[in-house]
Formats: sequence, C-alpha cells, structure tokens
Amino acid sequence: MNLTVTIGSLTMKNPVGAASGTFGYGSEYEKLIDVHELGALYTKAVTPEPRGGNPVPRLAETPSGMLNSIGLANPGLSYFISNKLPELQRMGCSVIVNVAGKTQEDYCKVVETLETQTGIHGYEINISCPNVSHGGLAFGTDPGIVEKLTAQLRSIIEQGAAMRKDSCRPLIIKLSPNVTDITEIARAAEAGGAHAVSAINTLVGMVIDVKKRKPVLAMKTGGLSGPAIRPVGVAAVYKIRRAISIPVIGLGGITCTDDALQYLLAGADAIQIGTVLFSNPNAAHEIIQGIWQYMETYKINSVADIKNLLE
Ligand SMILES: Cc1cc2nc3c(=O)[nH]c(=O)nc-3n(C[C@H](O)[C@H](O)[C@H](O)COP(=O)(O)O)c2cc1C
Repeated sequence: MNLTVTIGSLTMKNPVGAASGTFGYGSEYEKLIDVHELGALYTKAVTPEPRGGNPVPRLAETPSGMLNSIGLANPGLSYFISNKLPELQRMGCSVIVNVAGKTQEDYCKVVETLETQTGIHGYEINISCPNVSHGGLAFGTDPGIVEKLTAQLRSIIEQGAAMRKDSCRPLIIKLSPNVTDITEIARAAEAGGAHAVSAINTLVGMVIDVKKRKPVLAMKTGGLSGPAIRPVGVAAVYKIRRAISIPVIGLGGITCTDDALQYLLAGADAIQIGTVLFSNPNAAHEIIQGIWQYMETYKINSVADIKNLLE
C-alpha cells in the first residue's frame, strides 16, 4: 500500500503532519515519540524579528476545544536559522516552515532568507492568524492580497530554486475559516501560484468569566481549536476540493483515525494534527497506523485514492 503524498516537488512519506504552533520545532517531542515517522513537521510561525507574543492569560479551555491568543510568539528568523534549523534538519521528516509577518515584505524577507538555507522542504504561509493586530488574518480575508502575495512568494522560491540548482520548494497557503467564502480565498491562492492550500486555522472565539465579568483572555478574543471546530474544517475542505485542483491539506480538531479519514474522504490529500498533541503526543502515530489498517481492510492501494471514495 502506498501512503506517500505528493505536494509540488515534495514527496511526504505519509499524509500525517504535526500542525504549526502545537509541536514546537520537534525536539521538544523527540523524547516522547519517533518524530521521523511523521509525514511532515510544520514549525511554529517564523517572523523576521523575535516576538514575545500577547500578554497572558493567552490560553483557555473550552468544551471540546481550546482558545489561544499566543500572538505568533517566536525567536525570530536569525535565531531560527542558527538554533532551530539544525535541530529540524536531523528530524528525518519533511520540514515545512510556517511563515508569518506584519507586512507583505515581512513574508518575502523570511522566505527569501530561508531560500539560502538547506534542510527546508517547503513553506506554509500563515495568512490566517486571528491573534495579531497587523498582518495575519487581515491578509487572509482579501482575495486580491492573497493572490498578489502568493505570486510574489512563488517568484522568490523559483529564483531560490534556480540559485540552488534544485527543485522549487512547495508553497502552501494556510487559509482562515473566518471568512464569508473560503473557496474564494483558495481560488486566489491557486491563481497566485500556490502548490497547495491548508485549511483551517483557528476560529475567532471568546470566553467570559461571569464572576469577574471580563473575558478570560487578556486579548479578549482568541482562536478556537480542537474537536469543536472539526465539522467546520471538514466542510471547508469539502468545498475547497471542489473549487480548486491543487492539493488540499486538511486540519482542525483531528483526534483519531476516524477524524483524519473524514478529512481524507472530504477531499484532503494530507492532514495535520494539532491541539490533540497536547494531551496525546502519540496521536499522529496512532493515526498513521489507523489509516494503514483502514486501507488494508477496504483494499485501498493508495492514500491518494481515498479522496475519490466519498459517496
Ligand atoms: C497554541 C497554538 C498555537 C498555534 N500557532 C500557530 C502558528 O504559529 N501558525 C499557524 O499557522 N497556526 C498556528 N496554530 C493553528 C494550528 O496550526 C491549527 O491550524 C489549529 O489549531 C486547528 O487545528 P487543531 O484543531 O488540530 O489544533 C496554533 C494553534 C494553537 C492551538
């Protein structure tokens, strides 16, 4: 049976990745699980300068979910290159760097700089973070900006590939569910030259402490993740699959094999596991095994065929 997934020039060994922001840079999990067995590791967002993130409290538990307003806290591009990239290079799975910024120039600067480095297998462009006041979601809701930014980044990675005399690293645009029509944004990413889209990022939410009569999060609102958002993610993938022809990477609330299969049947080529990793670091491995067993039971030769099996 074939579990490999192809996104542009990249072949991942299986469809299961660890989602950005929920897996650090891999080394934190190395003592707990075999990171090299993952199909891909999507890093925490990298911005040009270090970011401390938003004030605390920035996490709240919700029924079947979690609300976060981390605010893209990360050590910045230079630190990432000198300290995190060498760790990632020994992980043995595909490394996709999640990129964010306040301006379009920020995104271009991060990708341009990373194009000079080795050990990176692709980029996931986070235009969907609900927890920053500049950039983030503001870019991901405007199809015109999405197409232009995607085209700029595509041109940078083509130049990078020519310089390295190597194939072009895949460009994955990460979409927000906080829009009226997610397919419009997916079409814009495809038109700009994306190799794939990933969906979904978190949904804007709020929790209020009724005794204190104030929101629990210092930022008041945050991004909702976990099982509560899974039906939203599955529906998004189903609609996107029918709107564009490039690969779709599905995520949002996956906790077990059946959840992952829902995304694959809806039309995802690959999936990512996020919030569940905080309570079950082994979830991705259980799901890889579970997909294998499902394929064996139903005599499915290639994981790529699952998306064509929905009645
Ligand atoms: C604590 C936390 C931090 C996150 N940080 C990022 C990030 O830096 N970049 C990004 O694109 N998504 C980030 N996300 C969103 C996740 O990658 C994912 O899209 C979302 O949580 C939905 O998947 P899940 O329900 O499986 O967690 C973060 C999510 C959480 C919970």
